[in-house]
Amino acid sequence: MGFSRFLASNGHSGVTAFVDSDPALQDKQVNGISVVSPQSLPVLREQYPSLMIVIAVALKEQEIIQMLGDMNFGSDEYKAYSNYCTDFYTIDVVGTCNLKCPSCAHGSEGMESPRGLMPFDNFKKVVDKAISETGIVSHISLFSWGEPLLHPKLGRMVDYLHQNGVAAAVSSNLSIKEDKLLRKLIQSSPEYLKVSLSGYYPDAYNQTHTGGDINLVKSNLYRLRYLIDKYQVTTLVDVNYHLYTNNCGKNLRKMKALCDELGFLFSTIYSLVMPIERLISHCKGVENSQLDRLRSLLLVDIDEGIGASSKVEINGCPFRDNQININWDLTVPVCCIVFNRNPDIMVANNYLKTSMTKIDAAKREVKLCGQCMAFGLPAYNMGFNRDRWAEIAGTKEIVDS
Ligand SMILES: C[S@@+](CC[C@H](N)C(=O)[O-])C[C@H]1O[C@@H](n2cnc3c(N)ncnc32)[C@H](O)[C@@H]1O
Ligand code: SF4
Ligand code: SF4
Repeated sequence: MGFSRFLASNGHSGVTAFVDSDPALQDKQVNGISVVSPQSLPVLREQYPSLMIVIAVALKEQEIIQMLGDMNFGSDEYKAYSNYCTDFYTIDVVGTCNLKCPSCAHGSEGMESPRGLMPFDNFKKVVDKAISETGIVSHISLFSWGEPLLHPKLGRMVDYLHQNGVAAAVSSNLSIKEDKLLRKLIQSSPEYLKVSLSGYYPDAYNQTHTGGDINLVKSNLYRLRYLIDKYQVTTLVDVNYHLYTNNCGKNLRKMKALCDELGFLFSTIYSLVMPIERLISHCKGVENSQLDRLRSLLLVDIDEGIGASSKVEINGCPFRDNQININWDLTVPVCCIVFNRNPDIMVANNYLKTSMTKIDAAKREVKLCGQCMAFGLPAYNMGFNRDRWAEIAGTKEIVDS
């Protein structure tokens, strides 16, 4: 999606189609562009003799190159996006949340962070600096630990990204009553809007999205459909369902049916435990009764997830190496999955006054990273080896008929 906006804003003809092996995406439109299966590639080549395939993936780049070779595509017929775009920016425009999900830092005891909103002027300066320091900035995520829909200028932030040829990604719990804000956001047409939830009925949802109101979320999903149609925008809505033992039966089926009815993408994730500080304590054997209550709801417990994901070898840490995460108050943590403002994990006190060279150098000095990698936490947080996670989940007792 970022690449597509990058092309359009740099005077190139657009993207012909997105190619994805996920059947849930095939035959759908993403930002008004059709998604086709990899098997359609030879047909596309017939139709478009100067077709160029751009491999823009977070994972499995080598596998895709191999597959293209097997389909007789020459190396002059594809390019890896990772050779051109290496830095991915996340701007946490809101440093607080209206919910207290027990899996999140906001819902766990002992986690503290200053609360506030990034002023719009600072936001513009952050974007300007990112663009001036990085070869290509094709997309920026406007969330990390906060709830972005609490920012009254979120729509204007999306507009500013678009004015600069940058695509916008937003993730929200959508348990908000701000009609005007939602309307303005949709008018600004962010490329990607993830809606995070964990149930269809309050009984299940309230346990894991504590403080939220699933009926309000559902009414906002209808409202989203209405606004998208009214303003004729192409925002991709991805309803991301967090799986637990108490919500993967009837709750899941009902939410999937609702998303099908509304024409939204429906994706699932085995719920993780966040943030890194809590995971490290767990790995060190520190007892935590609050965490134990959450663990009883997980389909894949922390150690099981770490074990499954550690089967995938990674060099370094993708969160440290490819991400630049800027907090609402301009501080820069080493990655998006640490939460506390411990000086040992901050790599800059003011992003606007610190060069990228300095930020990169400071990231290499963070001692916590050694421990985190030794415990296998980056791979766990990426959810690597999902097939194994699914096998483990399949052995668990489900309490949602
Ligand atoms: C901390 S949230 C902040 C954004 C927003 N408040 C939300 O919940 O979508 C950042 C991302 O973490 C994801 N997330 C939250 N809890 C999760 C969990 N238990 N397992 C996996 N992902 C989770 C959300 O889907 C969201 O995209
Ligand atoms: S996961 Fe999102 S909605 Fe839940 S507490 Fe964290 S920031 Fe808020
Ligand atoms: S090693 Fe851990 S703490 Fe360091 S950047 Fe990666 S995920 Fe974050």
